[in-house]
Amino acid sequence: MAREALRWLNVRPDGTYVDATAGAGGHSALIAAALETGRLIALDRDATAVALAGERLKTFPQARVVRANYSDLNQVLRDAGMDGVDGVLIDAGLSSMQIDRPERGFSFQEDGPLDMRMDPDSGPSAAEWLASVTEDTLAAALRDLGDVGPARRIAKAVLERQRAGRMTRTGDLADAVRETLDFVRGEPGEVRTVFQAVRIAVNRELECLRAGLESAVAVLRPGGRLVVISFHSGEDRVVKDAFRAWSRPERELTRDGRVLSVRAPRLRLPVSGPIIPSEDEARTNPRAKSAKMRVAERREAAAVEG
Ligand SMILES: C[S@@+](CC[C@H](N)C(=O)[O-])C[C@H]1O[C@@H](n2cnc3c(N)ncnc32)[C@H](O)[C@@H]1O
Repeated sequence: MAREALRWLNVRPDGTYVDATAGAGGHSALIAAALETGRLIALDRDATAVALAGERLKTFPQARVVRANYSDLNQVLRDAGMDGVDGVLIDAGLSSMQIDRPERGFSFQEDGPLDMRMDPDSGPSAAEWLASVTEDTLAAALRDLGDVGPARRIAKAVLERQRAGRMTRTGDLADAVRETLDFVRGEPGEVRTVFQAVRIAVNRELECLRAGLESAVAVLRPGGRLVVISFHSGEDRVVKDAFRAWSRPERELTRDGRVLSVRAPRLRLPVSGPIIPSEDEARTNPRAKSAKMRVAERREAAAVEG
């Protein structure tokens, strides 16, 4: 989907672009290679990714890599002295580097510390988060962020184990799920979805995505494109709802429901639904199988009717 994303981003040689999720710098390198006088700011909240992307982009003087959360995109651009951009790309979720290093605590296949933070300098680790939540909160997170069916039973087992002091390693979390579902033959699919849910909660991924979309729309110049690739239904719902709301007239209502003002739509949607990977790509790249890409374009500054 990388080429497809670049095509929808509409990269102009003299434009200014943000890759909000630099990862190993794959998309960033494609954008940078298409620039002449233009500029690229590549962000990642993960210091290891920033180092990798920096290495990958070192031959492109038009690119700069910054460690930041994309929910702070406005501030990053202000700091860089930039007042607007022609395109923003968000390729949400985890990079393979993060999954492949057991010491980061994302993998349920290899044992490591129960961390799961994309930015280990910010917020509680997964082990600390699990030590702080109630059974209700954990069950809701498993249901909402991982579509976990037996969410209540798994939440109870995880917290019992946590209280017994046995919830510090990724193996502890995986074993709590396996033991709860010991009637399932083979590895229960819930091991993966519980890890997904805990990771999304720990990194506040949906909150960051909402704030990142707001920031991106605020900094896009008219005609500028926002391209978002997401990997699970919760993320895609955030993108779909935001794009839908901002591509319609936005009404500000009084408490008793009277229309106070109407703002013209901020976005135009060049394609109405999600773009999904070709059958070929889904077959050869298992990670791409669940990917959905949505595209929006910034309209002229919105007029407000009072
Ligand atoms: C799927 S990978 C990106 C891969 C990248 N497009 C490439 O070509 O290598 C997602 C990256 O986004 C980063 N990330 C996730 N949420 C973020 C956020 N809120 N702010 C900044 N970076 C974020 C992760 O640390 C990870 O490196």
